[in-house]
Amino acid sequence: MDAAYQRIADDIARLINSGHIAAGSQLPSVRELAAQRGVSATTAVSALRVLEQRQLAEARPRLGYFARRAPAPMAEPQFRPPQSHSRAVRISDVITQMFPGEAPSPPRAAPLGAALPDPELLPIQALQKATARLARTRPQLLSGYGPLDGSLRLRRWLVAHYLRCETVLDPSELLITNGGMEALELALGAVCQSGDSVAVESPCYFGFLQVLETLKLKACEVRTHPRSGLSVEALAEVLQAPGGERIKACLLCPTVSNPLGATLPDADKQALVALCQRYGVALVEDDLYGDLHYAAQRPRPLRHFDARAEVIVCGSFSKTLAPGARVGYIAAGHHVERVRALKFATSVSTAPLLQAALAEVLEGAVYVRHMRRLRQACQDQVEQVMGCITEHFPPETRVVQPSGGFLLWLQLPAGSNSLEIYRAAISEGLEFAPGALFSASGQGFADSLRLNCGHRITPAMQAAVARLGALCRQHLAQSQSASHSP
Ligand SMILES: Cc1ncc(COP(=O)(O)O)c(C=O)c1O
Repeated sequence: MDAAYQRIADDIARLINSGHIAAGSQLPSVRELAAQRGVSATTAVSALRVLEQRQLAEARPRLGYFARRAPAPMAEPQFRPPQSHSRAVRISDVITQMFPGEAPSPPRAAPLGAALPDPELLPIQALQKATARLARTRPQLLSGYGPLDGSLRLRRWLVAHYLRCETVLDPSELLITNGGMEALELALGAVCQSGDSVAVESPCYFGFLQVLETLKLKACEVRTHPRSGLSVEALAEVLQAPGGERIKACLLCPTVSNPLGATLPDADKQALVALCQRYGVALVEDDLYGDLHYAAQRPRPLRHFDARAEVIVCGSFSKTLAPGARVGYIAAGHHVERVRALKFATSVSTAPLLQAALAEVLEGAVYVRHMRRLRQACQDQVEQVMGCITEHFPPETRVVQPSGGFLLWLQLPAGSNSLEIYRAAISEGLEFAPGALFSASGQGFADSLRLNCGHRITPAMQAAVARLGALCRQHLAQSQSASHSP
């Protein structure tokens, strides 16, 4: 559970970051803080120490704690426009090397690699209880496959959930899947055939590239802005190019993308839906991180702008509830029959027990509170990691300020190669996702990397980010001296 000292630290951090507490001003003393918040002196000291660890406060001997200047905003990455033609995807080898699927050796110093939230931030206890009770009271959840479409209760929850962001889904178009990955594979399997071209963001989530490679589809990487996402203008240029190739589908994360954390403005979402309808391009929306947007009002998905229900919406509970449950969903619109046939021919169903347990937790009061806390924790953790980057990474490192979620995309100064840095880092148990994973050729974005900030920022985590920064500096100095040597 969220400790009182964390909450107090989070509240003060927000005041410092927003400028309501100016840099250099004295923070309440331990006694004042304890009295103000009705906590013990130990809790108050812990809260001040957390602020110190986050580099938002400094302790001055005999004077107390003082606010530190929030780190200066960092410059945004600059992307070279991608090639505007489609190409075969070759990413599986790079991915297998990076994520061998075993515990890293030496032991992991900090979970900065895979895109996952801290287990402490997930309502695992509530899920454990629900799973144990359901296994006892409803053994049929284990003895049968369950319905092909998945739990009706879960599908109804999804319909109600999307209505809150003004998006109408129908339970009859929804299928519960084995994670978001199965949803993506079903979506593309339903609308494409081997050899077809699919437009994607650049950089783009490597799982998209894996699905394209598996289904033998080509990727057309489209210019993407670090904050506003896929450029609708650039996609229009590809579609309108005289004699240009035919793009069969567009697969993207329009709300809080992976790896950039970008969100398309509403006007762009609307224009994208219209453009794809005009050119007969199927739209597949990965909405996995939508609920982790930092804004008070969650942005509306692409499907909201699509009166014809042609956009296929995919998602999962992996980033918000339980990655190990492997429960996702697809709202397939007109493609539902084809998606059903594909699901029947592959996985048949999704674990009924886990679907039922998730439905219980989602319907309970725990979920709303949990999501509020998770969103806030993600935002705070991202800010804290940005602070460490400012302090420890090479000057001129560029960072994207994400619109939500817990991923940070960094561009290192020219001459850096994140795959080489990765090899040095992993031998010390330091993980991250090198930029090369996010391009169809497995060669792009060599100067960039993605950090997972889903975990609580402990001193060990800060030390890991600082060490990574030192490795980046060292690598840069070596590559600069090599390029200057005769
Ligand atoms: C954008 C995006 N889509 C889909 C997935 C896969 O989701 P799942 O773990 O539910 O299969 C991920 C996982 O990292 C992701 O980041």
